[in-house]
Amino acid sequence: MKGVVFDMLRDLVEDRFGLEGWDAVLEKAGSDGLYISTQTYQDEQLVGLVVAASAVTGIAIPDLLRAFGEFMAGELYKRFPSFFDNAQDLIQFLVSVDRIVHVEVRKLYPDAALPTFRYQRENPDELLMNYRSPRKLCHLAEGLINGSARHFGNQIELVHSPCMHDGADHCGLHVKLVR
Ligand code: HEM
Ligand SMILES: [Zn+2]
Repeated sequence: MKGVVFDMLRDLVEDRFGLEGWDAVLEKAGSDGLYISTQTYQDEQLVGLVVAASAVTGIAIPDLLRAFGEFMAGELYKRFPSFFDNAQDLIQFLVSVDRIVHVEVRKLYPDAALPTFRYQRENPDELLMNYRSPRKLCHLAEGLINGSARHFGNQIELVHSPCMHDGADHCGLHVKLVR
């Protein structure tokens, strides 16, 4: 994982639980908290921080990852507004993540750890995103989708089935616009 992800996790924890909260997380995780945004860190380090943040805040890991994803969508918009602005609507944006956004991210950071999404457009208001990643961060993806929906001003229903955490080989993220 890139240091930029750690920066965003710190911003979220500091935002909700103050500096003391973030210090407590670092202490619990045994981390010095020195992350450089463009540098790559082992996935286990992020997992360690998320586990520590869950212990410190009492929020279950999937809920924490969802909250983190939602917050991350806003942070990504601050850092990379054109990816959002180039899309006409939420569904077009979500389809662009695998085909455009993460492709550009890969050019910027050749060693980025990115998931793959395969898409099925069920009908104009429904998109199925099949998520695959050895990191199984599907709850983070849920949060990113919810945060993106908020950005585009859409209300959505999100159904997550099947799930890699239940032994499936991918996670199905069904996005439905509520009109
Ligand atoms: C402007 C929009 C976006 C940008 C710039 C962006 C960029 C990134 C970056 C830099 C990482 C970390 C790579 C690493 O640490 O090595 C990442 C990971 C990830 N991205 Fe995106 N992303 C965007 C939108 C999205 C959206 C909307 C979703 C979900 C639908 C998504 C799903 C994920 C997931 C789940 C990961 C975690 C890694 C994994 O699952 O293997 N991203 N993205
Ligand atoms: Zn899942």
